[in-house]
Amino acid sequence: MLIRVLTAADASDFRALRIRALREHPEAFGRTPEEVQPVAAIAEHFRIDAGSDADFTLGALDGETLVGMAGCHREPALKQRHVAHVWGVYVVPEWRRTGLGRRLIREVIARARTWPGLEFLWLDVTTVNQGARALYESCGFRSVAVKPRSLKVGDRYYNEELMALDLRPPPSDVAAAYDQWAEIYDHDANRTRDQAGLLLRQARLELGGRRILEIGCGTGRNTEWLVARGARVVALDFSAEMIRRAQGRLASSAARFVRHDVRSPWPLRDRSVDCVIVALVLEHVEDVSAVFAECGRVVRAGGEMWLCELHPIRQLQGSVAEFTHPRTGEPVRVAAFPHDTAEYVGAGMRAGFSLIEMGEWRDPGAPRAAAPRLLSLKFRLATS
Ligand SMILES: C[S@@+](CC[C@H](N)C(=O)[O-])C[C@H]1O[C@@H](n2cnc3c(N)ncnc32)[C@H](O)[C@@H]1O
Repeated sequence: MLIRVLTAADASDFRALRIRALREHPEAFGRTPEEVQPVAAIAEHFRIDAGSDADFTLGALDGETLVGMAGCHREPALKQRHVAHVWGVYVVPEWRRTGLGRRLIREVIARARTWPGLEFLWLDVTTVNQGARALYESCGFRSVAVKPRSLKVGDRYYNEELMALDLRPPPSDVAAAYDQWAEIYDHDANRTRDQAGLLLRQARLELGGRRILEIGCGTGRNTEWLVARGARVVALDFSAEMIRRAQGRLASSAARFVRHDVRSPWPLRDRSVDCVIVALVLEHVEDVSAVFAECGRVVRAGGEMWLCELHPIRQLQGSVAEFTHPRTGEPVRVAAFPHDTAEYVGAGMRAGFSLIEMGEWRDPGAPRAAAPRLLSLKFRLATS
């Protein structure tokens, strides 16, 4: 399967596919087949678009046959040039559920990213089109607004959802971002946080009477559970606000919260803990080897390390930890570094650990083609 920018020579095939899409799914598109331009006008558009930083139309070709398409158009007005619209996404039925739609969207995003000054991608999806909505969400688009009754097909109205992808680089100050997030961290909807918490509870770690080190403890949600299971916990985090909230949550002599950046050597003695727990922290750490090396130093022989992070595929799709600023209402994306599974496993092995369990976790009910949300790894340190 070849995905490429369509040229004037593709105009006729493009027109036929576009008409097919509009006929098959009148509820999914804003135009009718009768409104599709003639071949010559389409060819002229493709000619002008070639090499511009304002427009392209991608085609997916199975041999010579056009089986999918997706367009991207940038607003020409000066005050709107930071926004481009994704439009006309369509894959023929025979090629659905093969990952082709996702490949098309990823390619649109990759190309749009090269346009200087572009900050957002927007798209409209009819709210009845749940499959497409899930696809866009898995590629990093977020729902921004619903436009009620924006399409009328015969006597029937359809609502369209406006979804946006923020292409701006995230702010670099991670601790400051978490200071802001702390106020709402426990209350806002966050499937990644919830699923990671659940996986920790199902990880079958020995906790009763054990010395646990938790790094990146946040508001202490997991610390509280660990202590309730009989563990003695030292919990590190570099966000002052997160630590303050964690201390407010849990006044127990079994938990000690310490403000500390885990990229610096840890304030713990060699071989002083039975297990290290890492949940949703390492995406913010560029060099994970240093963290694993510290784990290998502080864990006793035969001790364990359990980690759970945003899945590497999700990271490559552009997902990062993000929240809505409690005061400004603006979305904030926290600076993150993509990591491969082999990077985690390799760093663990170099620190003296063996991998003993691994899990890749999708949302409940998510299709097989969806990227897993989380990666979990359990390591054990050699006994001698
Ligand atoms: C997404 S939260 C996860 C909190 C908690 N582990 C959970 O699963 O709910 C990430 C936490 O890691 C902390 N963190 C990120 N980078 C860190 C670093 N270099 N040193 C210490 N803490 C860090 C942040 O301050 C934040 O509290």
